[in-house]
Amino acid sequence: MAKTNTIFSCQSCGYQAPKWLGRCPDCGSWNSFVEEVFQKERSIKKGLELLKPQPPVPICDIEVTDEHRVQVGIAEFDRVLGGGIAKGSLILIGGDPGIGKSTLLLQAMEMVASRGHTVLYVSGEESARQTRMRAERLGVASKSLYVAAETSLETILEEVKKLRPTLLVIDSIQTIFTTEIDSAPGSISQVRECAGRLMQLSKGTGVSTFLIGHVTKEGAIAGPRLLEHIVDTVIYFEGERGHAYRILRAVKNRYGSTNEIGVFEMTDSGLKEVSNPSEIFLAERPLNASGSTVVTSLEGTRPILVELQALVSLTNFAVPRRTTIGVDHNRVSLLVAVLEKKVGLNLIGQDIFVNVAGGVKIDEPAVDLGIITAVASSFLDKPVDPKTVIIGEIGLTGEIRGVAQAELRVGEAAKLGFTRCIVPSGNKLSQRIDGIEIVPVGTVREAMEVMF
Ligand code: TYD
Ligand code: MG
Repeated sequence: MAKTNTIFSCQSCGYQAPKWLGRCPDCGSWNSFVEEVFQKERSIKKGLELLKPQPPVPICDIEVTDEHRVQVGIAEFDRVLGGGIAKGSLILIGGDPGIGKSTLLLQAMEMVASRGHTVLYVSGEESARQTRMRAERLGVASKSLYVAAETSLETILEEVKKLRPTLLVIDSIQTIFTTEIDSAPGSISQVRECAGRLMQLSKGTGVSTFLIGHVTKEGAIAGPRLLEHIVDTVIYFEGERGHAYRILRAVKNRYGSTNEIGVFEMTDSGLKEVSNPSEIFLAERPLNASGSTVVTSLEGTRPILVELQALVSLTNFAVPRRTTIGVDHNRVSLLVAVLEKKVGLNLIGQDIFVNVAGGVKIDEPAVDLGIITAVASSFLDKPVDPKTVIIGEIGLTGEIRGVAQAELRVGEAAKLGFTRCIVPSGNKLSQRIDGIEIVPVGTVREAMEVMF
């Protein structure tokens, strides 16, 4: 029988099949198979040969060397990384095209290089001159920040050996290729092989490496599963188009917590860190307008106050619309049902739109009561007191459940000048904290009576 020389691999998870498939049986993505030249897993074999057998040792006998980290000097970035860049770590940064990944890394690398560390910034997408032009706009001019416009992995490895940098940036992993593999740059085998070799490099020489990864239409880093296994840290850089705010979010971190976020603002001279995001998210809030409420969302160790807006209006359709931006659609449907059943508002025949101001995404049940209040406020056309912050998760029977870290949230509200806080009675907060009035509520009905 003739031997097949090509194989079809799923560009999203790396699953391989001898023939083309419309849908990947492993990850379920559609039309993701691409024909590639068949490669034996050379690097794995090579890697295995290099490994010396190591007998198991008791965990208490393992020597712990002081974990060495390089501080970036941008507080928002350092926090997301877990307190700086760990030596020899491999960090993947993903995000939509044009969101500011190259800008962020160029600025961060400048901060590191200005303190005397050698940094190599490899750009496979822009020429050295283009990078220089961007650098001028950003005020980046360190002598120890080296730039190379290179796409060949072998050349990059050579350069790293010569230059011995503390930090290496690969912009982006999809443009780099190794001559050992015949597939096109950006294909799953190339990305996997290059990332694997760069990992061996960073573990072997201690150079910390940033990989920039493109995001597919569906919002995943191309070949995400493969890369997420290989790298130590996965960070997403996200933001809404048309908004200046960008959020850096860790989704995997072997060297720190994954709940932290960093907030930046894109200006004409690059990214500026936003150390008090609540103030900015609330800056354009209309006071005394119906349908607007302020809620707290806990991002890692930091509570952030954001404005929720709802608009309820008579529908022109047989089935009314329920549109949400920034909060989960199903969650809103559920909350609207609770509002109908437990408070008795007649929302059938009403279009309902819910939006989080500032292009933020909130994925936390603690904003439930805020959503319900915004919807009710718009429906009744009665504004909520603008100095009130609303906290609470809602259950299907209309009960209000306690939330995590209530004191922290109330503290942040007090800091920003709010005078009243609606909280779940289950949280048992004392009546006055930092000059803010605490109003405990147990059910949705009770909360509506307090507010309207
Ligand atoms: P970029 O870092 O090239 O994005 P990525 O590498 O994620 O594709 O960012 C490009 C966008 O950022 C571009 O649309 C212009 C904008 N930008 C500014 O607004 N100000 C600046 O100082 C810079 C450098 C870019
Ligand atoms: Mg770029």
